[in-house]
Amino acid sequence: MDRKISLTGIKPTGSLHIGNYFGAIKPALELAKDYDARYFIADYHALNTMKNPAELQSCIREVAAGWLASGLDPDRVIFYRQSSIPEVFELATMLMAFTGKGLMNRAHAYKAIVQANNEKSSDPDAGVNMGLYTYPVLMAADIILFDSDVVPVGKDQVQHIEMAQDIARAVNANYRRDVLKVPQAAVREQAAVVPGLDGRKMSKSYGNAIPLFADEKQLRKLIMRMVTNSQAVEESKDPDQSQIYLLYKLFASAEEQAALAARYRAGGMGWSEAKEELFRVVNRELAPLRGRFEAIIADGEGLDRVLARGAEKARPIAAATVTRFRRAAGIDL
Ligand code: TRP
Repeated sequence: MDRKISLTGIKPTGSLHIGNYFGAIKPALELAKDYDARYFIADYHALNTMKNPAELQSCIREVAAGWLASGLDPDRVIFYRQSSIPEVFELATMLMAFTGKGLMNRAHAYKAIVQANNEKSSDPDAGVNMGLYTYPVLMAADIILFDSDVVPVGKDQVQHIEMAQDIARAVNANYRRDVLKVPQAAVREQAAVVPGLDGRKMSKSYGNAIPLFADEKQLRKLIMRMVTNSQAVEESKDPDQSQIYLLYKLFASAEEQAALAARYRAGGMGWSEAKEELFRVVNRELAPLRGRFEAIIADGEGLDRVLARGAEKARPIAAATVTRFRRAAGIDL
């Protein structure tokens, strides 16, 4: 099989919510149909910002379990932790030799911190560790190591992919042959924007998220707390102006959507009834995921075994890339 290779990097920060599920997890899992798909937990990237070991460990487990519960099939794809592949760090060191310091200075994430520091008249590099500064090199290594053809990303990550391209091209230009594969970004343009509980885009930082694995009671409580206007029960309501309906659409069949829209327009349905309908379809989709998630979390050793098997599949691929580069570079004598 010579399918193209896709690579998805997952930063283990915080618990997953419904916005992640529709915006990132579902579209990334779809890739396994058309690509030789690889997924990894970017745990060394997370270390740049997470210094509490218990917190980092539980994030890694929860994110890994969350993707498995959402349908990632570790027998059909390669699923591993970045930290299990020491070749990533070997490659990152070699790539550093081809990465201009000026390139790193231009990284959006770094520049944003420097700008914030300047506005506060702090030292420009206050709070910037070298892990953060060289983040694009490690990410380039993640990608290039696995001969990735495409990397599905949100818009915020496009610059990182362009940097990986620049770095791979610099290597190939120096040795006058294709030592490394130059990756392409597959930008998720129209990924579903999932409305949060307050009507703004669902985001952990807005505190308006519905956790993907909330238990039934918590899920109902969150949905019942959604912000609505003061229209009376009898009034006809516009479904497309309602956050409840917009969320409902993500979980309901076409017939269900049409039926609820008709009830909105007819009047006689209050917001609490609409919320009950929403809860019913959300819980219908998430209950099996929640069950799988809890079972995976409860069996920690099973999860470790899945990730260890993934690392076993990944390492020979990684070793081949590093060997190719070492030979080209004259490191291997
Ligand atoms: N930087 C990505 C993010 O913040 C995570 C990531 C790390 C990644 N390495 C990667 C994504 C390699 C794709 C490929 O979401």
